[in-house]
Amino acid sequence: MKNAQSILINIEDLSLSASNELKSCTNLNNLEDWRIKFLGRNGELSELMKVMKDISQEDKRIIGPKLNQLKNSLVDLFENAKKINNQTQNHEEGFDITLPGRNLTYGSLHPTTLIVREICESFKSMGFQIYEGNEIETEKYNFDLLNIPDDHPARDQWDTIWLDLKNPNDKYLLRTHTSPMQARIMEENIPPIRVVVPGKCYRYEATDATHEWEFHQIEGLAIDKNISFSELKGTLYQMARKIFGSDQKVRFRCDFFPFVEPGVDMSILWEGKWIEILGAGMVHPKVLNGVGYDPEKYSGFAFGIGPERVSMLKNKIKDIRNFHANDLRFLSQFIN
Ligand code: PHE
Repeated sequence: MKNAQSILINIEDLSLSASNELKSCTNLNNLEDWRIKFLGRNGELSELMKVMKDISQEDKRIIGPKLNQLKNSLVDLFENAKKINNQTQNHEEGFDITLPGRNLTYGSLHPTTLIVREICESFKSMGFQIYEGNEIETEKYNFDLLNIPDDHPARDQWDTIWLDLKNPNDKYLLRTHTSPMQARIMEENIPPIRVVVPGKCYRYEATDATHEWEFHQIEGLAIDKNISFSELKGTLYQMARKIFGSDQKVRFRCDFFPFVEPGVDMSILWEGKWIEILGAGMVHPKVLNGVGYDPEKYSGFAFGIGPERVSMLKNKIKDIRNFHANDLRFLSQFIN
């Protein structure tokens, strides 16, 4: 029978040799060998523990806790060494866990969204509601109800993206302007009507710095009894002042659109030049008739604004194609 004293020495020896040998373990493979040698099922610790069944009750009380301590300290040594090994390995692979993380990048609103919201907001403050409509329209709403005759150049296939649908019950196209919403809104509502309709439009167009084939418009429509041209001018002037500043000058000139009479365009004085930003006019009696309104009873005005053009002026953007190019160098300048 072994005496307690010599077993305690064995425990001490095992502890020493285990920690010494651990020092030469430099990778996960020889760490695992170490674990098997000292902590494995037939390892040195298990071997040493076998003495327990051959010793006196009295010695068990001394040796038992010592063996447990040894086991715990060997497990701790092993776990620590594994952790350190992982870290140094990451180091060697160029991963420094002490480096600060990368900054999160935040998304933000697109410059078109920003200007559309700003313009709509200016009309909202004057009592206008916001409406949206479909980008796919019918010939009836895009042209017929707007008094745009069959032979009008806007109907030419060079200006319009027609859709080639199977079994169509009408001719479909990508809307060339937001004006078809005038007729739809009048059909769905009873005056007084005051709405703005932001949305995308499409034209078959050769693109350049000021023309895109895909762009936005904001349509406006006000219908009531006794609406006059002075309300058109006052409303649009007020919008220009809200968007460009309270001393902004505007100019109205005669223009032609088949669905208004009289028709105008509005320019703003910007860096010494008059720049056109919208078309407008009094809603044509034929348009009112077309949706079942009596032109003797109701009158109103309509307008169409190109928000990208407005943003180009405000933000000194030279090329409208930037809005759809998806270039972060451009877009990140609008992070708000
Ligand atoms: N729809 C016209 C365009 O696309 C703009 C406009 C709208 C003109 C409403 C007058 C009234 O050019």
